[in-house]
Amino acid sequence: MYQVIRNTKYDYIGQSYASLYPNLHKYPATMLPQIGIDILKEFDATKGSLLDPYCGSGSSFASGLECGLTKMQGFDVNPLAVLISKVKFTKIPISELIEKKQTFRSNVFEFLKNENNLSKLLHPQITNIDFWFSQDVINKLIIIKHFIDEIKNINVRNFFLVPFSEVVRECSYARNNEFKLFRIKSDELLNFNPDVVSVYLKKWNDIFLIYSNFYFPKIKNDSNINVQCAQFQFQNESFDVVLTSPPYGDSRTTVAYGQFSTLSNEWLGISFARKIDRMLMGGVKSKSNIVHGVIADSISQISKVDNNRALEVSSFYKDLDISIINVANSVRKGGKVMYIVGNRTVKNIKLPTDQFVAERFEAYGFKHIVTYERVLSNKVMPSKNSPTNKAGKAVNTMLYERIVVCEKRHMVKLNICTP
Ligand SMILES: C[S@@+](CC[C@H](N)C(=O)[O-])C[C@H]1O[C@@H](n2cnc3c(N)ncnc32)[C@H](O)[C@@H]1O
Repeated sequence: MYQVIRNTKYDYIGQSYASLYPNLHKYPATMLPQIGIDILKEFDATKGSLLDPYCGSGSSFASGLECGLTKMQGFDVNPLAVLISKVKFTKIPISELIEKKQTFRSNVFEFLKNENNLSKLLHPQITNIDFWFSQDVINKLIIIKHFIDEIKNINVRNFFLVPFSEVVRECSYARNNEFKLFRIKSDELLNFNPDVVSVYLKKWNDIFLIYSNFYFPKIKNDSNINVQCAQFQFQNESFDVVLTSPPYGDSRTTVAYGQFSTLSNEWLGISFARKIDRMLMGGVKSKSNIVHGVIADSISQISKVDNNRALEVSSFYKDLDISIINVANSVRKGGKVMYIVGNRTVKNIKLPTDQFVAERFEAYGFKHIVTYERVLSNKVMPSKNSPTNKAGKAVNTMLYERIVVCEKRHMVKLNICTP
């Protein structure tokens, strides 16, 4: 058992994400950048290069920037997450954004003067488009997207896509206060007539203010923050520190990152938008249960109640293990890994993810340094989730998070696996 220390310093009661780096775009289960800043400083990991193999909307880069790190790499299989992270941490000339916004605005209004113009534009491939959007919303989104696509500079274009993605969700019939994709009630549909262009322009302004005040000034000229839409693959001893908050479990029964992003990703032209949840860790059910190590006992208990759930849980931890092998091999000797994890409950059985992470890293040449427990008071995620997956049956699945810190002591010859 790896010792766990309750550390109130990491609770940040009363602080929100917005108090340091307001988000440019909603994203589920974001990490508080304050955690990253304090843990990097506490363990003197403020030099060299940082990796986040599950970077989401990029909070670990915000932490890294605050600590003076300039070289950072991130990976995520969700294209929406990659878009948000890229825009936050790319230095885009402010004057160019303002200038393009003016051209964009006049182009859109000019275009709207003639209804026949719309027939000339390409219509996107959106699954069940009429179920999720009114015809007027579809038309306006097509026009906005057309003029965004005309922007030549990819960084500027990406910036314009961030408010576009927010507007796709907000102007759709999807319920806005949920991560999963549910349609609003039919009696609400009739009164839902958003003015898409105005909503877009307002969003653009809001996002521009956040970007220009909170992100742009902090990105140094020598900052090199590279974000890729992919699973992390082994890179020989390239990183000095890994700071990450992996998912708590498979997407289907925890946070549905893919589902949350589906409509946006489809409008962004992502062909695999509807397959993302299956591509995330634990997305494909394992054929056998894990029978060794600290997680085996919990899985065995779950299998006695429901073997299918045990196989799903096993699949998540097998994927996490493969990912840890890739990460372990990619860290330099003396380098540190910092994983912020949640120990979720399945079928009323607690899954010791923090112990699993520490155990796997120790197996791959690391030494467990510390595990801190903090109150999970700031993460934007459903606080209640039914472990039985029965509607109406909700119990708290997680109230605390754990920060696991390990240090690389020696090289272990490991077979590199492709997830
Ligand atoms: C808890 S979120 C990270 C949130 C992030 N720290 C932030 O503040 O936005 C976990 C992320 O892992 C991503 N993910 C899940 N499985 C993955 C995999 N196999 N490879 C890369 N990313 C993955 C999800 O898309 C999600 O964005």
